[in-house]
Amino acid sequence: MSHRLINSLKRDHVKHRRLLDIFARQIDRVAKVQAPDYDIVEGVIEYFTTYSLRVHHPKEEMLIAAIAARDPAAAEALTGLIAEHHDFHQRIEAFGAQVRGVLGEGTVMMERDAFTEMAYDFIDRERRHMSFEDMHLFPAARRHLTAEDWRELEDQIAAEPDFGRRATRRYAILRREILNWEKQNLDGDAAP
Ligand SMILES: [Fe+2]
Repeated sequence: MSHRLINSLKRDHVKHRRLLDIFARQIDRVAKVQAPDYDIVEGVIEYFTTYSLRVHHPKEEMLIAAIAARDPAAAEALTGLIAEHHDFHQRIEAFGAQVRGVLGEGTVMMERDAFTEMAYDFIDRERRHMSFEDMHLFPAARRHLTAEDWRELEDQIAAEPDFGRRATRRYAILRREILNWEKQNLDGDAAP
């Protein structure tokens, strides 16, 4: 019960790594001057823009706040994660604007190399960020939070409509769609 939140965040990380792999494969196509699958690129950006902003990062920041309330010294090494979350949202939004510019106006707003560099940098940072959370945030939460803290967190989560099953259903649907598009894209590449 007490670690249900951690387990769900860790499951998110597994899903997010998979989406980053799928995303990286499309960026590889751009780097090789091949057309990317825009459904996949836009879908991944849409997923991270919405799900991370409204659900995943707020839950992690609730964990950090709970650790800080229990042991401020232990939380010191974790507060940088909040700045990284802000940075993540700025980057994914800027990236989304570039992709929409390319699609909407048919004009390339950035040099190809700058575009792929921006995308690879985003992917690398996010992979490192998640590894840091796996190695430091979740173990710190297990170490420092009490049964009462976990109960309070569960109550806070239950009271937040954005975290509910109804609100999060559309993200699961989008994720499944991206996985399907990826499969079709791979099948297309494999076709003679
Ligand atoms: Fe995370």
